[in-house]
Amino acid sequence: MEYDSPVTDLREWLRRVDALGELVVINEPVDPDEEMAAITYLVGKEQGSPCLLFERSDQSAADPLGIRQLWNILGSSRRRIALTMEEDPEISLRDLIARAKDRTGLRVPPKEVSRDEAPVLTNTLTGSDIDLTSLPIPKHWPLDGGRYAGTGDAVITRDPDNGYLNVGTYRMMLQGPREVNLFLSPGKDAKLHIERAWKRNESVPVAAAWGVDPLFMVIGGQAFAKNVSEYEFLGGVKGHPVPVVRGTATDLLVPAAAEIVIEGEIPPNSVRHEGPFGEFTGYYGHEGGDCPLVHVKAIHYRDDPILTNALMADYPSCEMADFFAILRSARIWGDLEKLGLPGIAGVYSHPAAASGFAMTVISLEQRYPGHASQALSLAAQVPGGAYYSKWIIAVDHDVDPTNINEVLWALSTRCAPRDDIDILRDTWSTWLDPSQNPPEVRPYGSKALINSCTDHRHLHTMARRTALRREIYDRVSSRWHELGLAGEVPPVRAFADDS
Ligand SMILES: Cc1cc2nc3c(=O)[nH]c(=O)nc-3n(C[C@H](O)[C@H](O)[C@H](O)COP(=O)(O)O)c2cc1C
Repeated sequence: MEYDSPVTDLREWLRRVDALGELVVINEPVDPDEEMAAITYLVGKEQGSPCLLFERSDQSAADPLGIRQLWNILGSSRRRIALTMEEDPEISLRDLIARAKDRTGLRVPPKEVSRDEAPVLTNTLTGSDIDLTSLPIPKHWPLDGGRYAGTGDAVITRDPDNGYLNVGTYRMMLQGPREVNLFLSPGKDAKLHIERAWKRNESVPVAAAWGVDPLFMVIGGQAFAKNVSEYEFLGGVKGHPVPVVRGTATDLLVPAAAEIVIEGEIPPNSVRHEGPFGEFTGYYGHEGGDCPLVHVKAIHYRDDPILTNALMADYPSCEMADFFAILRSARIWGDLEKLGLPGIAGVYSHPAAASGFAMTVISLEQRYPGHASQALSLAAQVPGGAYYSKWIIAVDHDVDPTNINEVLWALSTRCAPRDDIDILRDTWSTWLDPSQNPPEVRPYGSKALINSCTDHRHLHTMARRTALRREIYDRVSSRWHELGLAGEVPPVRAFADDS
């Protein structure tokens, strides 16, 4: 289905998802305490599973906002990810990665709209009228330290020095009627803003959109340059400025068409214990610790607002797996292109490998001795791919990196472990990697560079793969349906007559 204009807000996005047949609306009340997450986890086990809109919770009677809840937002549906990236939902995975690479390089500044043009300002509560504990904010996993809002959200902070607005996806744990934490990994932009402001004994104004067009989660979940606002990259993907409105309790610009926005401030050195939380690895991250505490001053919301929730889990039930894998692949490919590495035919960071963090496959046409080894070292360490990654695999360009069967075939027939595996040590990793023990050894990691390309020394003398002749492929393809065969002819990348 083609649309002339980009998605304007979550409601328009849901209409398009419904038209794809990928929206399930649940009218029966469901407990936000573990039950919504459990349903999402189970539904999410099927590849391409639908988006779930819970119209009511069994806490609805006490909820003054009348919140509805969206789960499995993008999930493992490539069609919903494509729609969110303003692409044709039927685009192939390889093309979607290539398009995402191009789109995330574009920038369009946001457009500030007046307060009466901003749907999110339809309703506002301030001061003691705010009671976040009365909202059906969910608990995801049994051992989570509390209830979490805005897990697929957009948190807005301002750089205290250069004034640019960062939009980052960071979870928030409920702490009291007007208090939530922000969990920020080391080096994340909002954390850097807070640290610098606190050094000057200044409070940090902060806003968060808790229900928002899922493109915010896609872009807010990526690391971009520290002096350019993600609002510009959101506009770049859409090819259209994102409408923003000035807050009422802060002077931050917030998404004008969001469902729910909170505004507040983090006074100097204000922290409270946060966590643990079930993570994208399929494990609880850690026992938790002190995290910045936001004092909420205002909450704005549309009528019947929708809270968006991102479940972290093992694949494919993990919200951040498939879209993140596509974006990560696109960023690594873009980084390699910027470095001028020739011959790259495709890149894929498999979502089943800890949401695309752990494994990256580079497909390349080998053009000179050492080319594959160079591609492996660079892909392991470029900014878009260095964090966490453990397995970096190079394959020839006749292997589709998005097809795990082809990758396993290359690993099995073109890689000799004794000669073709190198290890990098003390690399950029995370506290969240459960394989490194005792936990104190984290966050340093290691990486295996696995050359599964045909040995360059024997490129033209190696045993030849069994492959069809192009003429025969074309001939049988043209008769496919006449022969009574169903579906499309599978694409083939290697032919017997290729030089
Ligand atoms: C659904 C989702 C949830 C995330 N939750 C957190 C989080 O709670 N804390 C965190 O530091 N990063 C989290 N991340 C990763 C950050 O969004 C990512 O590192 C991003 O680069 C942060 O933005 P920044 O580069 O502007 O700091 C999450 C990502 C996604 C997609």
